[in-house]
Amino acid sequence: MSFKRIVTGLFAITLIAGAAAAVSMAAENLGAEKLELFGGKRGKVPFPHHQHQKNLDDCQICHSVFPQKTGAIEKLKAEGSLKKKYVMNKLCTKCHREKKKAGQPSGPTSCAKCHIKPKK
Ligand code: HEC
Ligand code: HEC
Ligand code: HEC
Repeated sequence: MSFKRIVTGLFAITLIAGAAAAVSMAAENLGAEKLELFGGKRGKVPFPHHQHQKNLDDCQICHSVFPQKTGAIEKLKAEGSLKKKYVMNKLCTKCHREKKKAGQPSGPTSCAKCHIKPKK
């Protein structure tokens, strides 16, 4: 193979890889910027989704526990494959506590700061 053909080949590979990366980025659905999660008797839980995506570099921290779909947590809880309050205790509050302990920016750890009490 001539030098020119190798260079042309490498250039083509770079182009294809670049195009593939652009397509996969455009195809990634980040979901809503802000979500509101079911919080039972304690009231709804507002959740700044995109803010978490910016702060945490891995979607799977949360989405290995439940799929990227609105209502996914409640669906799994209803099916019995996810315990009530598991997400709250083992994801949300656990992480916020650990970050706080490490002196890093963190989120709420008290009931009233996450849940909006329903009006009576
Ligand atoms: C800190 C936890 C957390 C992280 C990290 C996270 N998500 Fe989510 N995501 C959620 C929660 C909570 C829901 C709502 C699930 C429900 O309604 O039961 C959700 C829902 C979604 C949905 C469906 C909702 C909609 O508006 O369409 C998509 C799509 C999604 N996430 C994509 C992503 C992607 C892509 C990333 C990474 C770039 C990511 N998420 C990172 C917690 C997270
Ligand atoms: C960091 C945010 C956060 C904090 C702090 C928090 N919660 Fe939650 N809570 C959630 C989320 C998210 C859910 C829904 C997902 C789940 O069930 O794990 C939830 C769900 C619940 C539910 C409904 C469970 C069900 O399925 O019926 C109750 C009740 C509840 N929380 C009570 C509390 C109480 C009491 C406290 C304080 C001791 C508290 N929460 C603190 C985020 C939080
Ligand atoms: C792996 C770590 C991690 C997980 C899991 C996580 N958070 Fe957070 N959360 C953070 C960090 C870090 C911040 C601080 C962000 C900042 O200061 O910009 C934060 C901030 C917040 C805030 C405050 C936002 C503000 O603007 O003050 C809320 C509300 C919140 N989280 C709710 C939740 C809920 C509800 C869940 C579970 C569904 C959750 N978080 C899961 C790391 C996490």
